[in-house]
Amino acid sequence: MTPQAVAGTWSRRHLLDVDELSRGELEALLDQAVALRECRAAGTLGEVAALHGQAVGLAFYEGSTRTRVSFELAARELGATVVNLEVAGSSVPKGESLADTLRTLERTGIGTVVLRHPASGAPYLAARATGLRIVNGGDGTHAHPTQALTDALTLREVIGPLDGRRIAIVGDVTHSRVARSGIHAFSTLGARIVVAGPPAWVGGFGRWPGVVVAPSLREALDGADAVMALRVQLERAAGGGVSSLGEYTAGWGLTEERMAWAAPGAVLMHPGPTNEGVELTAELTASPRSLIGRQVANGVAVRMAVFSSLAS
Ligand code: CP
Repeated sequence: MTPQAVAGTWSRRHLLDVDELSRGELEALLDQAVALRECRAAGTLGEVAALHGQAVGLAFYEGSTRTRVSFELAARELGATVVNLEVAGSSVPKGESLADTLRTLERTGIGTVVLRHPASGAPYLAARATGLRIVNGGDGTHAHPTQALTDALTLREVIGPLDGRRIAIVGDVTHSRVARSGIHAFSTLGARIVVAGPPAWVGGFGRWPGVVVAPSLREALDGADAVMALRVQLERAAGGGVSSLGEYTAGWGLTEERMAWAAPGAVLMHPGPTNEGVELTAELTASPRSLIGRQVANGVAVRMAVFSSLAS
């Protein structure tokens, strides 16, 4: 792949969620991620330098390891100057609003901000209130578009095109922005989606077009080509939904034995961070069917593709 072949094929000022992307746009982004990954491995990204002379801000109002680090690496690999807003040490604790904080970054010359925020919808407000290009790094329980792209790329590379494939998403779906964006991306790419978990954690998903709510883990996994476990989000669940983590694990925790209910060769995914022993066993995390490490590794390539595709 030549650096000239990886120019952005997709043209939007923001990436707020994947529900705004057509199948063609999703596939173009994934293809571009693969091309940029090859350039990175070949040491030719300097010839792409899509962000040369630009400044990218990372404004993470919630903790992150995978998303923040891979966005930072992606921006640097493409030639940007990266500014990490250390929220705790910024003027945010003095009461500065999100809009004022982002306008301040804009006035310093930053053109693109990756925003992670506990409030669903915060990136939409940011896109309206500033002239910045906004990339959603995860907002509340609403959306995590680059995680969905990373997961879609990982699945496509391991099990092939998603048309007609069955993907089971298990656990705390209600509080999961990963699940919402994943459902949009996977179904746009042709997959069939089944969700399962404690009743309070799957409420409402039966009304999503094309999504089936399974009444038990066994029925969710039956015939699944891929199984995605979600983190039990104790910070958002506030104790609702299950009476104890032990009860959750007994009913919904994934083990090698339970994965036998899925299709032969089914793969295991988890967006991370995992609560090992709760959503899944350590044995399963380390098993050959686990794509968890690959999901993380693909994050840099996908985020390079997003940056290099944003319109100016
Ligand atoms: N999957 C995910 O968003 O992980 P981080 O919170 O570590 O970024």
